[in-house]
Amino acid sequence: MLDVRIGPIELKNPVISASGCYGQALESEAFVDAHVPGALLLKTITLHPRAGNPPPRIVEVAGGILNSIGLPNKGIERWLTETFPKVRGHASKLFLNIAGERTDEWPKIAARIGATPGIDALELNISCPNVEQGGLPFARDPETVARLVRVVKNETPIPLIVKLAPESPDIGGIALAAQENGATAVSLINTIRAMAVDWRSRKPKLGYGFGGLSGPAVKPVALRLVHEVARRVKIPVIGIGGIATADDVLEFLVAGATAVQVGTAAFRDPRALATIVDDLPKLLRDAEVAHVRDLTGTLRMPGAR
Ligand SMILES: Cc1cc2nc3c(=O)[nH]c(=O)nc-3n(C[C@H](O)[C@H](O)[C@H](O)COP(=O)(O)O)c2cc1C
Repeated sequence: MLDVRIGPIELKNPVISASGCYGQALESEAFVDAHVPGALLLKTITLHPRAGNPPPRIVEVAGGILNSIGLPNKGIERWLTETFPKVRGHASKLFLNIAGERTDEWPKIAARIGATPGIDALELNISCPNVEQGGLPFARDPETVARLVRVVKNETPIPLIVKLAPESPDIGGIALAAQENGATAVSLINTIRAMAVDWRSRKPKLGYGFGGLSGPAVKPVALRLVHEVARRVKIPVIGIGGIATADDVLEFLVAGATAVQVGTAAFRDPRALATIVDDLPKLLRDAEVAHVRDLTGTLRMPGAR
């Protein structure tokens, strides 16, 4: 009733953890049984270690949170030798999220991962700033994204999920570029660039100044973008943004998603992933839907035949 396919990857249910909200699995294992979601997706790993941004790194706003964590991590080498042996085999499926700061870093990370068994998919965080282009995200330009997917694909046979940024001028064009160059799926959305201000101190509330908005506030934007992208591409679309309940999951499927990711909800209720997965069968039964995949892309838009 719940199993779905993302290209060659079979997931026992369509619910995946979103990158950055469950650490590298070890930080969240006390409250998330990693076997519950269809796949466990880990926080972004880069080629070199990164310290991350100055605190405060998270601030609560109406309808969600802003974060500017800054991708702190140990770098791919130490991840593979120190972290991976501890998390390998601990989840139904394990997805790794990677990012480069320069174009040539992406294939280097991919080459280091190669065909490592136990990593079921790589998600490319193309929202990462490209230091060669003044810090603009890789996600801005279809040609850049096409090249990234090609060079990463040259180095690893692991299926690639390209994670789209909501601010790309032509998000459908970026999704097509990913598809045409061999991506297995696209996921969207990453956070929306935003800020919070403390007027008394005249300072931004985040240590870095700006951050990314996530949580229920972004859900309507994410639904619209998932719908738009799903109409442009043939590869599976993974919906992300403000999902906190099983109803939210099914809304994303109807809008065009094959699977979803759940992020910020875990900060409010660390057991959110498990509750969402548990609640899905009853909702489907009550609506007489035999299988979760029967819902994908069934939205009836006004005026459409
Ligand atoms: C604290 C925090 C850290 C995040 N870190 C990452 C990250 O390292 N890499 C990434 O691709 N997305 C990261 N994201 C974005 C989420 O994966 C997700 O795309 C976004 O938050 C929207 O989903 P949500 O509303 O369910 O959180 C992070 C989000 C939050 C809230």
